[in-house]
Amino acid sequence: MFRALLLAPPGAGKGTQGERLAARHGVPHLATGDLLRDHVARGTDLGRAAKEHMDAGRLVPDQLVIDMVLRRIGNDGKPLQDFLLDGFPRTLTQARFAYEWGKQNHRTFHAVIMLEVPEDELVRRLVQRGRDSGRSDDTEDVIRNRLHVYEENTAPLVGFYEARGILLRVDGTGTVEEVTERIEAGLVPLLEGSATRG
Ligand code: AP5
Ligand code: MG
Repeated sequence: MFRALLLAPPGAGKGTQGERLAARHGVPHLATGDLLRDHVARGTDLGRAAKEHMDAGRLVPDQLVIDMVLRRIGNDGKPLQDFLLDGFPRTLTQARFAYEWGKQNHRTFHAVIMLEVPEDELVRRLVQRGRDSGRSDDTEDVIRNRLHVYEENTAPLVGFYEARGILLRVDGTGTVEEVTERIEAGLVPLLEGSATRG
């Protein structure tokens, strides 16, 4: 069983590591940012409601995101057994909701992977991506706002998961491969522990 979450600031490598880890463990990679960008591209009601928040680097309202994740993980009444979440939960409201839902559905997380990268490196990576490919929120002002929103709203989740004994802190600098190997090494005791706890 593998239910984990990537908790890290913009540019830390959630998407990059998320794809690799999900493929290795054979679980779906559920990135709320990607799901929301898909809604924006398709012009759905959710996409229209989310777009201005995303373009400004603000969070999309909790209830919209929670409903979107529930539709995906809830899987028409047959909740997915395993998954790797990227970018959710991102507020204490979302985290509390996920925990209650997880307890009710026997789907609590085994591990919360936190990638630690210095702020100047985060900005460097995102400014570079903005130049190369250009996500609409990869401009310097919006990047600063995303980092600020992370500190205000998402960093408090560290204490929430630390208290539950499932937080894994990983140095997110170095090559992509090095970071993956650090994560895998750190996951071993958490996944073994979950196998015995059930
Ligand atoms: P989201 O899509 O989640 O964006 P983000 O958190 O700002 O993070 P990024 O996707 O930019 O970075 P990442 O950590 O995935 O890093 P990546 O691997 O891409 O959210 C976007 C928006 O959606 C939010 O602002 C909000 O509006 C909304 N939203 C999403 N979830 C929400 C929620 N739960 N609640 C409310 N609103 C929500 O890497 C970044 C770059 O660095 C890439 O170019 C990559 O190639 C490079 N890189 C990666 N690893 C390395 C390495 N080791 N060395 C050098 N470069 C590297
Ligand atoms: Mg991402």
